[in-house]
Amino acid sequence: MDSTYAHILDGKALAQRIQAQISEEVAQLLSTFGRPPGLAVLMVGDNPASAAYVRGKERACAKAGIASFGHHFPENTSQTELEQTIEALNQDERVDGILVQLPLPDHLNAVSLLHQINPDKDVDGLHPVSLGRLVRGESGLRSCTPAGVMRLLREYQIEVKGKQAVVVGRSILVGKPMSLMLLEADATVTIAHSRTENLKELTRSADILIAAIGRTQFITADMVKPQSVVIDVGINRVSDSSGQSRLVGDVHFDTVREIAQSITPVPGGVGAMTVAMLLHNTVLSYKRSQS
Ligand SMILES: NC(=O)c1ccc[n+]([C@@H]2O[C@H](COP(=O)([O-])OP(=O)(O)OC[C@H]3O[C@@H](n4cnc5c(N)ncnc54)[C@H](OP(=O)(O)O)[C@@H]3O)[C@@H](O)[C@H]2O)c1
Repeated sequence: MDSTYAHILDGKALAQRIQAQISEEVAQLLSTFGRPPGLAVLMVGDNPASAAYVRGKERACAKAGIASFGHHFPENTSQTELEQTIEALNQDERVDGILVQLPLPDHLNAVSLLHQINPDKDVDGLHPVSLGRLVRGESGLRSCTPAGVMRLLREYQIEVKGKQAVVVGRSILVGKPMSLMLLEADATVTIAHSRTENLKELTRSADILIAAIGRTQFITADMVKPQSVVIDVGINRVSDSSGQSRLVGDVHFDTVREIAQSITPVPGGVGAMTVAMLLHNTVLSYKRSQS
């Protein structure tokens, strides 16, 4: 590694290691209990990004020996049909995890569908019961993306306790659960959002800066404290001058890596960890149902 650049937190390599461990565990569970863990992914319509994510999740399940129960619905599927499917999956003993791939088409009420998932099968950690457990510091299924960030920090032995953590973004999917998990790990946490004043001053105070904004290369080097840890959750698709499309994060990687101590790349950082945590949650939910 060039010492003038930040250490790269390799989410892809770590996710591969975790998935290999999960695969060994699944093989043992299968021989003990006679069935593999099962994950049902519900996707509506054919949003290309969602389809790519779903394919990635199903591929990861297949590799780990987890059974996939994919339900791919046409764009015009009704709320009732989806509710009936979720209800059937709640009852299905082969299914340990249920995930609704977001975003859904506008005519559907995503929140009401998420609430309908049996909290014991809520592997995305978005049900109010799962979020409530997180707020209370009780064990439970944790949202995959922030859980992936916490695992990355832990595996790279990055001290969180007592550190100043700033999370930019307050979505229910990433920013809020991320902040609560950092708090649970004894960081001093500040949450910033689009109405935050003096954002740069705030981000420059962060020992650990988490960008979950959804804006291409928004966090520039002048917003980052030297020798801090920068975690880029953002996934933004851009086209370069040759018309080729590629993924970039919310952090201006090339300049921020010159001053940070550690940084996650996009792709190959948090995104890969999200899938690994989904498999982890599915196995966790399976083990709970067996015990
Ligand atoms: N790596 C993964 O596996 C993974 C998983 C999920 C999401 N993501 C990516 O992470 C990013 C965030 O996702 P999300 O679902 O949290 O997005 P979101 O629901 O759109 O939330 C974005 C957040 O960023 C804040 N924000 C927007 N502009 C800002 C600004 N100029 N200054 C400060 N804050 C600003 C918003 O503030 P307000 O609340 O005030 O509007 C909001 O809280 C996206 O790029 C998404 O693709 C990645």
